[in-house]
Amino acid sequence: MGATIAVLSQKGGTGKTTAVRTLTDVLRRIDLDVLAVDLDPQGNLSDYFDVDPDAAPSIADVLAGRAEAAQAIHDDIIPANLSLAEAELMLAGKMGRELTLRRALKPLRERYDLILLDCPPSLGLLTVNALVAADHALLTTEAQYFALQGVEQALEVIELARDGLNPELGWLGVVFNIADMRTKHSREAFTTLEEHVGRKLLRSTIRSSIAYAEAAERAISILDHRPDLGADYLALTDEILERLKMRDARGRLKALVEA
Ligand SMILES: Nc1ncnc2c1ncn2[C@@H]1O[C@H](COP(=O)(O)OP(=O)(O)OP(=O)(O)O)[C@@H](O)[C@H]1O
Ligand SMILES: [Mg+2]
Repeated sequence: MGATIAVLSQKGGTGKTTAVRTLTDVLRRIDLDVLAVDLDPQGNLSDYFDVDPDAAPSIADVLAGRAEAAQAIHDDIIPANLSLAEAELMLAGKMGRELTLRRALKPLRERYDLILLDCPPSLGLLTVNALVAADHALLTTEAQYFALQGVEQALEVIELARDGLNPELGWLGVVFNIADMRTKHSREAFTTLEEHVGRKLLRSTIRSSIAYAEAAERAISILDHRPDLGADYLALTDEILERLKMRDARGRLKALVEA
């Protein structure tokens, strides 16, 4: 029933939005009802899904208490736009500011099999709201040595959420993203990360390719644009479903991969 996954990173450009977009797509193809929530004032997820930029109400209205979350769903997306920056500032001055998203999404949990939250590139109030609303955290990191520090910082924020407002928050894993495993640098960064986070590191890595930018620009899924690359996300989804113990869905994914 409606497991909620926050996709986050401390740094920008680690492929969070692409991951939410593509995982949502894979999960929908195996008949799961998935809600994707854009929590970034940049509104990239909304763009990637080709949601009308003027779609209203948006997540900003939900966090500001002007709309119910159910009213803000447009084609199973809750979109965001720049007005979310203002809503975040307003939220900062309120009691229970970290709990706002959790409360707002609660009535939707029964309607969806999974809810994916696309966080902005900072560990500020919006990301904290996502971590408090979530059952699981999924970190993305760029496959570079210099990016590993960002993972440490995100891990600390997750621990803070767990020690405080959301003791139930679980770990889905760390995705080694935008990787070129043919290079020694990427392979060494993977090993170093594994030494730091152990089993939290997901085995499926996502290869780096310009095709992702092309697919984003055309608002199509990498699964359709470049199925050969999309295979990375199919493998990642399988690993995630295994960790979520969603066996039936895993079986359907296997059938999709073999089809
Ligand atoms: N596997 C990949 N290989 C190459 N480029 C990628 C890959 N995944 C995503 N990208 C590209 O990297 C850029 C950043 O990706 P994305 O928007 O998903 O990151 P993000 O972490 O959500 O960024 P932000 O922190 O700004 O929200 C985009 O141009 C995207 O198309
Ligand atoms: Mg993003």
